[in-house]
Amino acid sequence: MAQKNSSPWVDYVIFGLTVFLVFCLIFESFIDLPSLVAWLGRWHPLILHFPIVLLLMAAAIGLFNRIVPKLLLTIATLSALVTAITGFFLGTETVPKGDLILWHQWMGAGVAFLAVLWYWLSTNHLQQTYLVKGIQVILILLVGFTGHFGGMITHGEDFLAMPRSKKLEKIPENPLIYEHIVHRVLDNSCIGCHNPNKSKGELLMTSIGELIKGGESGPALVVGDPVNSELIRRLHLPMEDEEHMPPDGKKPLSDNEIQILERWIALGASDTLKLSDLDNSEPLAGMVKKMMEEGTSNSWAKLPKVADSTLQNLASDYVTIQRISSNSQALSISVFLPPDYDPKNITDLKRISNNIIELDLSGIPIGEKEMEFVAMCKNLEWLEVDRTPLTDTEFDKLKGLAQLRVLKAYETGITDKSVAVLKDFKGLKSLYLWETQISEVGFTELKEALPNLILDHGIDPELKREFIEKDTIVDSIQ
Ligand code: HEC
Repeated sequence: MAQKNSSPWVDYVIFGLTVFLVFCLIFESFIDLPSLVAWLGRWHPLILHFPIVLLLMAAAIGLFNRIVPKLLLTIATLSALVTAITGFFLGTETVPKGDLILWHQWMGAGVAFLAVLWYWLSTNHLQQTYLVKGIQVILILLVGFTGHFGGMITHGEDFLAMPRSKKLEKIPENPLIYEHIVHRVLDNSCIGCHNPNKSKGELLMTSIGELIKGGESGPALVVGDPVNSELIRRLHLPMEDEEHMPPDGKKPLSDNEIQILERWIALGASDTLKLSDLDNSEPLAGMVKKMMEEGTSNSWAKLPKVADSTLQNLASDYVTIQRISSNSQALSISVFLPPDYDPKNITDLKRISNNIIELDLSGIPIGEKEMEFVAMCKNLEWLEVDRTPLTDTEFDKLKGLAQLRVLKAYETGITDKSVAVLKDFKGLKSLYLWETQISEVGFTELKEALPNLILDHGIDPELKREFIEKDTIVDSIQ
């Protein structure tokens, strides 16, 4: 016989949450969420374990023709709803949402809605119908796919928006110019947005043929003619131009990389050309050699060994640790804000400080303790401390980081006092500094001290807002 509901308020809560989730999904672009909600989103990585386990258990019990305990189904449904809602909140922090996040979001919502439907059917004594069996099968599959997509999100790709720098992986002695050089540059900076899963501007960049075919505005590459190649034109646009590639916030190509692309196109955009085919007087040979040298001089070979087990111990739902390439000792770490943040989340990483090459602390309320830890990461090349409460006092601790190439410190409280620290980063290539207290005078001083630095100190915030929102379907109604 059907089971009785424990109390009707559970039904109301489930109904209320379902309506709320539908509302969020439909009116996403019109709602501006308060910061409490952003905080709630941080619970998503913890809570999501509940519906996975509970729903799979409930579905399995149902498929074995047993009565699914009402309490199990109730908690599973509630946790699926709460997970979908907190996930939605977390997702609002990523603008624009990538395809992976969107898929994950809709599949996760699907899981929650199916669970609610099942709950409703069972409340209405329809526990053992074919419809319910169907729901159980689909739920098992959908939970699997949602989890898989969620995993892909936390493992890098879109969510972290952290460009992999593959520069230091070894280039062969006599490289093929396209495969080992040009393609590597495109792969590092462009293909993330121009691939079969995500063809921005309808442009694919995974082969020469696709480049020639081009996108929305025609061919991206004209063989033998770099000046008329859309791809090159966009690389040369000023940083703040909307059409500049890669877009705002992504690491731009170096001059050498741009010149390599140009010269390779001028020489016929061949896919069989090798370094040894080039005359010594051919400028492309020099540029390629320069790129190869950069790749080896700064070798990670000397880094101390870290065991996978150490990394597993230190990683958590809020700290992702990856080897930059499969066998290297060089690590890339991203920290997300847990609901109950403690500096130990970060300072516990001390044991592996020498191996950390990339560190992303964006949006974490870091202070002196954390910065002392950062200062211990002597091999750090890529640091993101944007959107943090940093002031000059804490920033001063970064002084000794000689390897730093990329630094994101926008939306912090640093002032002209920190310019002295910045000026000392002789190897710095890209610096992102909008919305700080640094004055025009400070910027000028910085540009003089580091002439090769690509400094992004922002454009009019309104413009930037527009740019960020361009990719989403956003409120023109205001
Ligand atoms: C963060 C995502 C992203 C990255 C990374 C990126 N692009 Fe784009 N790209 C876009 C978007 C969005 C468009 C379409 C809007 C536009 O035309 O500006 C576009 C359009 C283009 C177009 C025009 C396509 C057409 O026919 O309209 C070219 C050429 C291009 N990108 C080249 C590049 C190159 C070269 C790189 C690497 C240096 C790169 N992109 C990296 C997002 C990206």
